[in-house]
Amino acid sequence: MDYNFDEVINRRNTNSVKWDETDSPDILPMWVADMDFKTAPEIIQALENRISHGVFGYSVTSAAFFDAVIMWWKKRHGFLLQKEWILPVVGVIPAMSAAIRAITEKGDKIIIQPPVYNHFYSTIENSGREIVENNLIYKDGFYTIDFDDLEKKASDSKAKIAIVCNPHNPVGRVWTRQELNRIAEICKKYGVVVFSDEIHSDIVLNGEKHIPFASLDHSLVSNSITFSSISKTFNLAGLHVGYVFTTNEELYSSVKSVLVMQEMELLSPFATTALIAAYEKGEQWLEKLKSYVYENFLFLKQYIEEELPQVKVMQLQATYLVWLDIRSFKLSSDQIAKRLLDNQKLWVNSGTMYGKAGEGFLRINIACPKKILQDGLQRIKKELLQE
Ligand SMILES: Cc1ncc(COP(=O)(O)O)c(C=O)c1O
Repeated sequence: MDYNFDEVINRRNTNSVKWDETDSPDILPMWVADMDFKTAPEIIQALENRISHGVFGYSVTSAAFFDAVIMWWKKRHGFLLQKEWILPVVGVIPAMSAAIRAITEKGDKIIIQPPVYNHFYSTIENSGREIVENNLIYKDGFYTIDFDDLEKKASDSKAKIAIVCNPHNPVGRVWTRQELNRIAEICKKYGVVVFSDEIHSDIVLNGEKHIPFASLDHSLVSNSITFSSISKTFNLAGLHVGYVFTTNEELYSSVKSVLVMQEMELLSPFATTALIAAYEKGEQWLEKLKSYVYENFLFLKQYIEEELPQVKVMQLQATYLVWLDIRSFKLSSDQIAKRLLDNQKLWVNSGTMYGKAGEGFLRINIACPKKILQDGLQRIKKELLQE
């Protein structure tokens, strides 16, 4: 089947966070992580069939949901899950919040690896736990993990969880088996539970391979929980569906009990229908999407190399979020982001949204038709060439 990722879809007046959270109709939003593409037609068809039934009462999470998740992880990531390990959830962040409450106390410390997804900060803060930053190392245009610092921070008896963004938003890294093993060894040594956020694991580009944290040697990773979803992969964030899995019965029961206590167990019939259709029928669409996103990345890279060589583009191993090094302009990320918004009506994320370690960077979402990407890049050029 042909899928048309070039189609420009008007998303205004659809209650879109990305497009409607501004009164200004001329603002081009290239910030929040959802895509400007329609989801796979196979998913739309399944939802239409479900809608035409007309009755939308409480819905159980059927065996087909678990089968679809198991089939997907085996086929796409070579990892065999068991049904007893999986818990359906309404989203990665709500699940993470529940899991934090389930296994830690107020005042406990949670390690994150900035610059990193902003909601890790808010989730930890909202639950009254303390954030500990294990900043990534940025050298020669490439990010790696500071293992010595991680070990120092994990050895604190108050450190209870380390959140690993695997693959990493916003720096676009796919962590290698060696890197994940080292994290696992350190966390096991100090009894720190690893939360592996694998929401971006399906959008791994240009021949890179996602390594599920849970697929490492079992003795190292039994103390971990993986979080994932169809929301990034198939552009379904608004349907609020995801799942967590853990081989650890104790962790499973603790998380489940908080989900039950917070009445967060039941999914909507649309969520379940979409997940099953996505995993059973969405693979071909996903492959085409990945090619389109990577072509967009190559286009952006070439454009910036030719027109704005002062900006350095991080290699995009995964996600559709490109991390731009703008330090040569000697202005803060917030200043540049504000100028782009005020003068060029372009909305991108300032790097500082992802922690202090994001100073000097911008994040731009390239999951859009090429025409929109071109427009965004021209706006960046216009503003930055004045410098
Ligand atoms: C790393 C990461 N985790 C979680 C989320 C949000 O997940 P959810 O909408 O399922 O809560 C995002 C969204 O961008 C993300 O980038």
